[in-house]
Amino acid sequence: MASVTVSPSPVPSLSSTSTRSAKPWYVRTLQSTVGAKFIVALTGLALTTFVIFHMLGNLRVFLGRDAYNSYAQALHQLGPLLWVARGGLLACVVIHLGLALKLKKRNLDARPQRYVVERTKKASLPSRSMALTGLAILAFIILHLAHFTFGFKPIATTVDVKGEPINYRELKDPHWRDPIDPQATRHDTYRMFVEGFRDPIMVGVYVVCQLLLGMHLIHGVRSAFQSLGLSSPKWSRLLDGLALGITLLVVGGNIVMPLSVLAGFIGNDVHLP
Ligand code: HEM
Repeated sequence: MASVTVSPSPVPSLSSTSTRSAKPWYVRTLQSTVGAKFIVALTGLALTTFVIFHMLGNLRVFLGRDAYNSYAQALHQLGPLLWVARGGLLACVVIHLGLALKLKKRNLDARPQRYVVERTKKASLPSRSMALTGLAILAFIILHLAHFTFGFKPIATTVDVKGEPINYRELKDPHWRDPIDPQATRHDTYRMFVEGFRDPIMVGVYVVCQLLLGMHLIHGVRSAFQSLGLSSPKWSRLLDGLALGITLLVVGGNIVMPLSVLAGFIGNDVHLP
């Protein structure tokens, strides 16, 4: 459980300026500790919702190439809506990270007080490593986007039917035909997925990153409920159980998929030429 910082003086704000009342309400909210924690909690829960649905969507890979490629194609066909969702996600990441690091710095600046409290009640490992696991997740997202979304050549290249190098993003589903336009093609996201996880090093990196994500989620989801004022004694056990359930679901699902490729349970229909 997290240590509680008891401040003898009124809670300091994230800003040092004394003319706060002249500022708009949203600036004052972001600069106050309580307001910043509230926004960190809201954006954190929004990102958690994304990772839950992302994992559940990806589980379709167990249904085979057509099911998985149809799902990826449907997402891409959302067009402008997809860009709105991407923009929202990016905004959540930037706000969540920016405010969380600001809060962390403020907490470190109040260090003498923190020591007094921590001597009596030691914070758990996930709680103490929130900044580190958060930055590790950011690094994972950058790697993951380079791997699958942007097809960064050194980690996203395989060979085509003639044995020529081909980027993951250029793979075409060999079995799909558009009923209206015979020239149309669709991306072979399934093959990209399978080839991406045939590399044991990459699978190892993903697994470690999911464990770090799990550490972040187990404490983050619990604290988010607290910051939103939901953790009354009546609800606390239920919310702790919910945080644990979400963490196990996301981490378990995200680890099972790459390991299943490596073990050969997924992707037997994808053969290298
Ligand atoms: C083992 C676990 C995961 C797998 C197998 C996986 C798989 C994928 C795949 C295949 C894509 C590309 C989809 C496409 O091009 O149509 C993708 C995109 C993405 N993934 Fe993951 N993912 C995993 C975990 C995560 C996690 C934990 C996060 C966030 C912390 C994440 C965030 C994203 C984002 C932001 C995109 C870009 C979505 C877009 O194109 O707008 N993924 N993922």
